[in-house]
Amino acid sequence: MEVYSNKNQISNLVNSLKLKGFTVGLVPTMGALHEGHLALVSEGLVNNDRVIVSIFVNPTQFDNKEDLKKYPRTLESDVALLQTISNDRIDVYAPTVTDIYEGDVDSEIFEFDGLEFEMEGKFRNGHFNGVGTIVKRLFEIVNPDNAYFGEKDFQQLQIVKKLVEKYQIPVMVTGCKIHREVNGLAMSSRNTRLKPEYAKAAPFIYKTLIAAKVKFGTKSANKVSEWVEKQFANHNLLKLEYFIIADIKTLKPIKRKSKKRLVRAFIAVYADDIRLIDNIALN
Ligand code: PAJ
Repeated sequence: MEVYSNKNQISNLVNSLKLKGFTVGLVPTMGALHEGHLALVSEGLVNNDRVIVSIFVNPTQFDNKEDLKKYPRTLESDVALLQTISNDRIDVYAPTVTDIYEGDVDSEIFEFDGLEFEMEGKFRNGHFNGVGTIVKRLFEIVNPDNAYFGEKDFQQLQIVKKLVEKYQIPVMVTGCKIHREVNGLAMSSRNTRLKPEYAKAAPFIYKTLIAAKVKFGTKSANKVSEWVEKQFANHNLLKLEYFIIADIKTLKPIKRKSKKRLVRAFIAVYADDIRLIDNIALN
């Protein structure tokens, strides 16, 4: 395993691998790796000869300066963790901000057919322009055959698929299931920042999603949403930002149930100053 910080080096590596007929998978991350990330890497290793894991805390996707500052940066232990899966089929690309952005640290402006205006797009100003900018850049630099994204960030996954379609980028994008702690909490790099009482409270998010799924069997989307809002209104530590039942293609809230379309429930919650998101398939 090599750790590259320079885009020309990683481009050259992938070019030479492809010339030898090897397939290359990319797993973009912001580091502070956990088992959720490792599951994406393992999926990549099943379907590719080599996997590149990028580790880069991308400044342009943070609308909150404090969140960017406090985001955990643990390159050494990330590399050690990746080595436990494979030492000879994984390489790391951990660039500096200047390696990626050169001049101004700014986002491109994207149009993702309205996906960017829903949910996270409403609450995190400019977030998906930042994500689009970095993912497009990583695809250009690494030029992988396949790329792996988690359903944990379901809206991001749909937006990356849209990006690839719109710009006709020759990368196959695969979505991977959400990895959870034993208590149900979706794994996230931000979980390490939870104070003990909030870490104890946070599994309530997934418990509520499961209960919402059961209720959705007999109740309307509106009634389920009202019920979830009430659960959080009564909670003394967790603050609900949104709960939305949406069509997985348009990401728009559904007005009425239909057997023909797939829907998921999406949630964003503040545990102290830490923002946690999760989602669950409802049908
Ligand atoms: P990050 O939050 O580090 O996540 C990297 C990838 O791991 C994303 O595709 C995310 O959906 C996936 N992931 C995170 N937690 C997961 C879990 N519990 N189960 C399954 N997959 C999980 O998402 C980003 O970084 C950035 O926005 C990035 C795409 C790297 C662009 O900067």
